Amino acid sequence: SDNKNFTLAVVPGDGIGPEVTTEALKVLDAVAAQHGVTFERTEYDLGAKRWHATGETLPDAELEEIRKHDAILLGAVGDPTVPSGVLERGLLLKLRFTLDHYVNLRPSKIYPSVGSPLANPGEVDFVVVREGTEGPYVGNGGALRVGTPAEIATEVSVNTAYGVERVVRDAFARAQARPRKKLTLVHKNNVLVHAGHLWTRTVEKVKADFPEIAVDYLHVDAATIFLVTDPARFDVIVTDNLFGDIITDLAAAISGGIGLAASGNINPDRTAPSMFEPVHGSAPDIAGQQKADPTAAILSAALLLEHLGLPAAARAIEDAVTADIEERTGSVRTTAEIGDAIAKRA
Ligand code: NAI
Ligand code: MG
Repeated sequence: SDNKNFTLAVVPGDGIGPEVTTEALKVLDAVAAQHGVTFERTEYDLGAKRWHATGETLPDAELEEIRKHDAILLGAVGDPTVPSGVLERGLLLKLRFTLDHYVNLRPSKIYPSVGSPLANPGEVDFVVVREGTEGPYVGNGGALRVGTPAEIATEVSVNTAYGVERVVRDAFARAQARPRKKLTLVHKNNVLVHAGHLWTRTVEKVKADFPEIAVDYLHVDAATIFLVTDPARFDVIVTDNLFGDIITDLAAAISGGIGLAASGNINPDRTAPSMFEPVHGSAPDIAGQQKADPTAAILSAALLLEHLGLPAAARAIEDAVTADIEERTGSVRTTAEIGDAIAKRA
């Protein structure tokens, strides 16, 4: 890019993915026009339909094409007609691992007018920095004697000093840029002692470079308690791939629901494009019916703008979403109607 004209790879994917992606692009275009930037888009037909037609999930040649873009916008992948894991591992995780998306960024905020299932959540505005390329998701494992009473299955959690330190540094830097300047490490270092001690020691070490940051530690089980009883205590949470996956669904649930939860799969070193997507999946139960809330996909486009160095444009989307949310009356709108309303405000 030349900082004004960006290239964007779009993977609408399965289920509600195409519906919410359409709205995210609508809002992105509206904001881009006002901020003097353009997004030249290439759409990639990947997901369940492609797999049924050709047996392919993500051919290497296509991955290399995608790699040439400035950023990636993804809807969702996964379909009940495809064996579980085929698309999640072969497409989604392949993108995250190959493009070295070691920061999976998931902000959580309670919008006053949306409410929360919690009676008294307080002012909730935190961000989870979930490690994206290691932990139990690397596929380091295997099975023996499958289907017999003697079956063995392993799923090894891989944690490297290099991998832990780079994500911990990123989390500290994000805490430094936020007003409350607080970092909470979430792990289970009393039981998972090998990985847990590496994470704990790494946080202790990196802390020396960020003297302004207040550091806290919680076991993951205790973190689930506080996410419900006192979510306002959190500012930046850093944690591994699996714990991050689970606590961010809980975070979404307490803060307006899965329809609002946005995420970025970020390569902070910018050696490959980062990928932005809603936290939710393909929601086959409501797909094709214009029932999906596109807000999470739209907020993911805001994270994309922020990453590309366009904070004012990102803020324009966030403000448009906030204004739209404040006026939500409970009357049902289609996916496109929500996208239109937010695009008009952006
Ligand atoms: P899901 O997030 O697709 O759906 C869970 C529930 O939330 C459903 O009742 C759905 O209707 C609702 N929901 C989700 N997004 C919504 C939206 N924008 N507006 C309104 N309601 C919404 O999770 P589920 O059912 O566990 O997975 C479905 C498929 O998606 C599976 O194949 C799964 O592997 C895949 N998946 C993909 C992800 C991704 O692409 N990053 C993430 C999570 C799941
Ligand atoms: Mg998840």
